Amino acid sequence: MDKILVIYYSFTGNSKTVAEYVKNKLNADILELEPKVPFSSDYDEVVRQWQNNDIKRDVEIKPVDIDLSKYNKIVLITCTWWYGISPVMKKFLKEYDLSKKDIIVASSNAGWIGHCFKDYETLLPNSNIKGELDLLFSANDGERNKILTTQKEIDDWVKCL
Ligand SMILES: Cc1cc2nc3c(=O)[nH]c(=O)nc-3n(C[C@H](O)[C@H](O)[C@H](O)COP(=O)(O)O)c2cc1C
Repeated sequence: MDKILVIYYSFTGNSKTVAEYVKNKLNADILELEPKVPFSSDYDEVVRQWQNNDIKRDVEIKPVDIDLSKYNKIVLITCTWWYGISPVMKKFLKEYDLSKKDIIVASSNAGWIGHCFKDYETLLPNSNIKGELDLLFSANDGERNKILTTQKEIDDWVKCL
């Protein structure tokens, strides 16, 4: 029987909302990734600090207390930071082995997803990536939590798993 795990990192809650939706839809388990040291609560400061978010730059994360070998299917959701996947998700993919698993990936963004899918592909060379979702939220100040991707688009992506 399939065992599915949803793994996500969310700075402002958008990826978290979708991760919880997918968890319920698939009757999956869920794992939230967290940086060892919290990022600043000042949004603009974090944006400035992470202007260089290349594939090599990551952060220490809290240890993952879950047996990943129990799961054959994985859902990965992160926010987009400066055109790439978040440093927290990067560090997780560098530290933990998801090879041979079926995986679907998503990156929540405000219109500039950049090279996020390439980042996932680079860091998951031995996994079977079955679906990629551009998870679009509003870029307008005061509306950053408004989702623009439809529920049908999310449901279709989930079916790829
Ligand atoms: C440091 C930082 C960098 C960002 N860079 C981008 C970007 O390159 N492209 C984009 O579309 N949105 C960018 N955003 C906006 C977020 O990706 C977007 O609001 C996303 O939905 C947030 O997801 P979350 O609520 O799960 O953190 C950035 C936000 C932060 C904090």
